[in-house]
Amino acid sequence: MAKKETVSQTLIVAFVLCIVCAVIVSSAAVILKPKQEANKELERKINVLAAAGMMEKGADVDQLFSRFTAKVVDLDSGAYLDVDPSTIDSRKEAKNPALSTALSKKDDLAKINRRANRAIVYILEKDQEIDTIVLPIHGYGLWSTLYGFLALEGDLNTVAGLGFYSHTETPGLGGEIDNPRWKAQWPGKKLYNQSGDLAIQVTKGKNNPELADSIHKIDGLSGATLTTRGVDNLVHYWLSEGGYGPFLAQLNKGG
Ligand SMILES: Cc1cc2nc3c(=O)[nH]c(=O)nc-3n(C[C@H](O)[C@H](O)[C@H](O)COP(=O)(O)O)c2cc1C
Repeated sequence: MAKKETVSQTLIVAFVLCIVCAVIVSSAAVILKPKQEANKELERKINVLAAAGMMEKGADVDQLFSRFTAKVVDLDSGAYLDVDPSTIDSRKEAKNPALSTALSKKDDLAKINRRANRAIVYILEKDQEIDTIVLPIHGYGLWSTLYGFLALEGDLNTVAGLGFYSHTETPGLGGEIDNPRWKAQWPGKKLYNQSGDLAIQVTKGKNNPELADSIHKIDGLSGATLTTRGVDNLVHYWLSEGGYGPFLAQLNKGG
């Protein structure tokens, strides 16, 4: 005759099962953490290289990325800080009131509420001159904050590329900011006009390539005007006084 199970036996089995599962899940989290960190780091390198137009299929990411130097910039003064970039988490700093600046509605063109006081920039030098500089940028689209990089050539006026690596805009609409054909419009565009004013613009709809000012213009995505307006706003914000303006001014002075 089969032995009758008691309530306490059932509870003991459930308890032991819980402990075993908890140990398996926490061990997996601990064991996989270094791999996750390594993957995050690899992804960051790929995104920087992609924005700079240097990412090719099968490329040696570490070797290509080693040509860049990461530096920490104080955004208010535009000066470099003697801080190890690997000790900084800019996204976390942007949420920390002690390490970020609250933006008034008027100044918050990118709709980010707070801006971290420092940023990590990536610089590629050739013959001791800046060849390419990659700047992290972010701002609100329609549904989400878009995180990406804007790469500039050494003249600090010609765009080398732009790319976003994190957002939740609608695929096929705002999500078309990831479309290589849309992104291909950016390299070669000039940020500033002859008078030195910021003239880069993501427009609503198509631009006439015959017109002289098309050198500053990027076609907006049809059916996704709100996301493209967000891109225009965030690019303007990060190139302004509140973003990398003081830093770019220092570089232009040869600082
Ligand atoms: C389900 C849904 C998702 C949408 N997603 C986006 C989006 O990601 N980005 C965007 O700009 N517009 C999106 N739109 C469209 C906007 O509501 C708006 O109509 C559009 O940005 C206007 O662009 P247009 O003037 O080029 O038509 C979405 C609309 C719907 C119904």
